[in-house]
Amino acid sequence: MRLQNKVAIITGAASGMGEAMAYLFAAEGAKVTATDLQTEKLNKIVAKIKEQGGDAIGITHNVADRKVWTEQVVPQTIKAFGKIDILINNAGISVPTPFEEQTDELWAKTYAINLNSVMLGMQAVLPLMKKHGGSIVNISSIAALTGMSGPGSYTASKGAVSAITRAAAVDWGSFGIRVNAINPGYILTPMSEVFLNNEQYKAALMPAIPLKSYGTAESIAQAALFLASDESAYVTGVNLPVDGGTTIT
Ligand SMILES: NC(=O)c1ccc[n+]([C@@H]2O[C@H](COP(=O)([O-])OP(=O)(O)OC[C@H]3O[C@@H](n4cnc5c(N)ncnc54)[C@H](O)[C@@H]3O)[C@@H](O)[C@H]2O)c1
Repeated sequence: MRLQNKVAIITGAASGMGEAMAYLFAAEGAKVTATDLQTEKLNKIVAKIKEQGGDAIGITHNVADRKVWTEQVVPQTIKAFGKIDILINNAGISVPTPFEEQTDELWAKTYAINLNSVMLGMQAVLPLMKKHGGSIVNISSIAALTGMSGPGSYTASKGAVSAITRAAAVDWGSFGIRVNAINPGYILTPMSEVFLNNEQYKAALMPAIPLKSYGTAESIAQAALFLASDESAYVTGVNLPVDGGTTIT
């Protein structure tokens, strides 16, 4: 198993990519702390992982809340599993609002959930990971790499996630802490399916995707598994597009 004896925290684990990662990581031997705002869905996922012979706990968690990171997520993980090897900063929101309609409130909310959360999570695990190393994977977007039209606050927040991933990789490499990002393309999840399944959007998007299909939550989970595991021991500071080739067109 590729994550045998590893302990992983995964945020946004009640849906989409985070849910797929929780199942895959547990199946690969990791002990998983799954966090999300959606407690009921989270509890069902944790129960299913246990039914399948895996080990997991669920924590109700607003990723933008520093106190929950330091007073619940980290201590409860240590209490349950004794250490933290992997952090997946996955939770995020996307509110499709054109630049000219962005309000201060929307801008601040998107930054708090998509960007500040990444810093808070990394800060929370840093003292522990400094002792034995670790792998952090931040879920960015191809919006950080291309001039995609759409919600300005989302694009800006993901650009910053990609940038701080590189900065943290430089700062913490000497502690054996690797920090990488994944830049998903058009991936079918509850966040995106309403737009992606719209025939008009589909007709416009498909010509720009060399592999001629949308990605799945599992395709992102597989990339996260590689970056979380020791198979990527010499990889750090990378922004990995998992996008069917969208960013090369
Ligand atoms: N779906 C795509 O096409 C796509 C493309 C690029 C990047 N992404 C990014 O991938 C990540 C996962 O998205 P997804 O498509 O699986 O979406 P999703 O909506 O299916 O899942 C996101 C999860 O995050 C949780 N969440 C939202 N706000 C939270 C908060 N404040 N605290 C804790 N949890 C919170 C939600 O409850 C949900 O369970 C996000 O960061 C998203 O921006 C998605």
